[in-house]
Amino acid sequence: MSRTDQIKIAAIANGYGSHTSAWRHPGAAHNASQSLQAVLHLARVAEAAKLDAIFLPDSNQLSARDPETLSRTARYNVKFEPFTILSAMAAVTSRIGLVATASTTYSNPYTMARLLGSLDILSGGRAGWNVVTSYVPAEAANFGLKDLPPHAERYARAHEFLDVVRGLFDSFEDDALVLDKAEGLFYDPAKVHELNHEGAHFQVRGPLNQQRPPQGYPVLFQAGGSEQGRELAASNADAVYSGEPTFERARALYADIKGRMAKYGRTPEQLKMMPGLYVCVAETDELARQKADYLNSLAHPKLIKAMVSSALAGLDLSGYDVDDTIPSFEDPEVVHISQYHTFAEMAREGMTIRQMHDRLANGGAAHFAVVGSPQTVADFMEEAFQTRCADGFSLSPAGAPDGLESFCQLVVPELQRRGLFRTEYEGTTLRDSFGLARPDHPVVRAARGTASGS
Ligand SMILES: Cc1cc2nc3c(=O)[nH]c(=O)nc-3n(C[C@H](O)[C@H](O)[C@H](O)COP(=O)(O)O)c2cc1C
Repeated sequence: MSRTDQIKIAAIANGYGSHTSAWRHPGAAHNASQSLQAVLHLARVAEAAKLDAIFLPDSNQLSARDPETLSRTARYNVKFEPFTILSAMAAVTSRIGLVATASTTYSNPYTMARLLGSLDILSGGRAGWNVVTSYVPAEAANFGLKDLPPHAERYARAHEFLDVVRGLFDSFEDDALVLDKAEGLFYDPAKVHELNHEGAHFQVRGPLNQQRPPQGYPVLFQAGGSEQGRELAASNADAVYSGEPTFERARALYADIKGRMAKYGRTPEQLKMMPGLYVCVAETDELARQKADYLNSLAHPKLIKAMVSSALAGLDLSGYDVDDTIPSFEDPEVVHISQYHTFAEMAREGMTIRQMHDRLANGGAAHFAVVGSPQTVADFMEEAFQTRCADGFSLSPAGAPDGLESFCQLVVPELQRRGLFRTEYEGTTLRDSFGLARPDHPVVRAARGTASGS
């Protein structure tokens, strides 16, 4: 049966678009990922099309990639710190959600609660946080650590981190700020609470020096597909950013994560599965293909080889031409590349170095990727949505600003015509857009429990 809800869309909008060589496109703004105006333009475009959110992936390093890759692409390179640029976006928009990626491994809960709470307050309830536990060893070196903490420890820390952040958001009850000028009473001290958290990873007294955020708790995204990642999502997340290249795999993940929610007292509708979707769209399939081919043609030969080598855990391609078939190779004993096995399988299909690059450049090969007309893109999204591979998408437009502009001009009206996407925002907060209730303060929850129990 057809679904009655609608597709959610969070657009990755960090300046250049997702194709690794899109920065060389003549239409790309100069130094776009560090240009305030270029990035604000994308936020305005996304809001005019009623997209749910701007979504910014992030990490705390220049990138673990080799210098040959890094020096020839904007994709993994210089960019704004998410909370800072999202705050600027908040000032020029009024409805669209603003989702920052931040790591529980390399930050602390008090600072995170302040950043996130401030963004929620100044945007009128539009903040979201993509909770990541980080996985690239090179990041550790920027935080005085010799190595990446073990996987289980990162996830244990993440659970506690989330508990502390939520506890801090409850420092002030919703009506704690009295602001009575005549009486000279700023806040009601009886309605402000210390947290006094003493845990394995954090000791935090509180209270947070901020009012309760408009959304109560800003919207939580989660990204990470291991057993522990799935549990974190099922127990805590409002949305999941996943990377699944096929309907089959996405459907299995969808069912798996939603199936884990009941044991946490949650219903499947309380979490939106939003796999990554790379889109290169134009008026016809043929024009879209040409656009994609042109972007691929912008890749420097050294970048082509470096990207393939890096995806295959450093496979030596120095003696090969980009149009040679990828040589056979053994899997390394330990791999730190999260999608290594997907890449290795692909490389063994017998493709050339250039062909593999083109797949990596167009959506990273680990996500859904569609090149085509508005109908082709909408057909793909509709099938994924109706067959419960996805409740929405984390959209990676190919280039910028054209990628997002084209998606908004061509695909959004097609989705709206099919009744699959909103024509007006449902409210003013990201929770409103996602159809998520605002969590009550624990004092209100407790009072309700007492009332219903009496
Ligand atoms: C689709 C997807 C997107 C991710 N985005 C980020 C990101 O922007 N920044 C980051 O530091 N980690 C990111 N991660 C890494 C995860 O947070 C996590 O640390 C990693 O996947 C290891 O956890 P896992 O074993 O549960 O997958 C992402 C993971 C996935 C699957």
